[in-house]
Amino acid sequence: MLKETRVATLGLGRLGYYHTKNLHEKVRGAKLVSVVDPFGDQAEKVAAELGVESWSKDPDDVFQDPNIDAVVIVTPTSTHGEMIKKAAKHGKHFFVEKPLTQSLEEADEVIQVINENNVICQVGFMRRFDPAYYDAKKRIEAGDIGKPVYFKGITRDFTCPPEEFIKNSGGIFLDCSIHDYDIARYLMGAEITSVSAHGTVVRHPFMSKYNDVDQGMTYIEFDSGAAGDVEASRNSRHGYDIRAEIIGTEGSLFVGTFGNKNTTLLNAKGSNYEIIPDFQTRFDDAYLLELEEFIKCVQENKEPRVTALDSKINMKIALAATKSFLNGGEKIVLETAKVTN
Ligand SMILES: NC(=O)c1ccc[n+]([C@@H]2O[C@H](COP(=O)([O-])OP(=O)(O)OC[C@H]3O[C@@H](n4cnc5c(N)ncnc54)[C@H](O)[C@@H]3O)[C@@H](O)[C@H]2O)c1
Repeated sequence: MLKETRVATLGLGRLGYYHTKNLHEKVRGAKLVSVVDPFGDQAEKVAAELGVESWSKDPDDVFQDPNIDAVVIVTPTSTHGEMIKKAAKHGKHFFVEKPLTQSLEEADEVIQVINENNVICQVGFMRRFDPAYYDAKKRIEAGDIGKPVYFKGITRDFTCPPEEFIKNSGGIFLDCSIHDYDIARYLMGAEITSVSAHGTVVRHPFMSKYNDVDQGMTYIEFDSGAAGDVEASRNSRHGYDIRAEIIGTEGSLFVGTFGNKNTTLLNAKGSNYEIIPDFQTRFDDAYLLELEEFIKCVQENKEPRVTALDSKINMKIALAATKSFLNGGEKIVLETAKVTN
């Protein structure tokens, strides 16, 4: 049997705490040995709650610990670049939440450091592990809908993230729509060659302080001749709403539903079903499966399903969409969508 991979988590916020619990309780082959968060008493509290052997407020404690094999980075997006460089230079394999970094220059730097230090890097595009999206991928590959010609992606947050998060998020296209750009490329089996993006603040005026919006729309074109649109919203009062449509020449696929459970109540008052409250509920399977894949890749020295290069392509699209939005919806052609380094 392979030895357990000794893992530490960096960042114990909304998603970091969730990944940490998964690593501690469920992820096969992983042993959670340390948790880190510099603010308040979060690290100490989480370590005590889960019975983790060590905690710290300083990420360097983990990077310098020779007994830690891998780190799971769930810190604010603006810190990913620095965390990745330190992890790789200390020979730690790492899983990092999306997006890889906030700028393409920093993405190039981290890719170089990853290659120089020969560490495994997986990025948190968990939709590729979600059973519904994965089933759609298999059906497209089996030819069930013919040639995919149109993609529609919907990502609507039930509650708007706090201002502190938005400030460091890189904006709605880099933070939210990037999931749809990634899954669109994966499902359509094609690269995005142009974007044209629009956005508006319809509900949360504080967004304007950060040149951000709470409602975004990107029109996309693919090198296969297909097209698509991607909506992102922070304003969904009917729950966390994640769906996709893939229209093909011989049929269509619809991914995702409004309901959380497969139960709908019907009575004299009408009908009722439970909404999906948050990303942790919608993607519980995917978050677990992606971490299990990461640990397996570390143990078997395999390339993960979502690499740093893939993530750089997703960033290129998202940053072009942000630029397009800031320039009034100008169409931006991505001549080099297929990056090779
Ligand atoms: N894949 C997804 O579906 C998904 C969903 C939500 C968030 N995310 C990503 O996860 C990351 C974190 O998002 P979140 O919503 O959990 O944010 P959050 O603000 O809730 O949590 C971030 C945590 O990191 C801690 N932190 C800040 N600086 C740190 C440092 N230098 N070292 C260690 N910890 C530090 C903060 O104290 C906080 O506890 C972001 O990059 C975001 O894009 C991905």
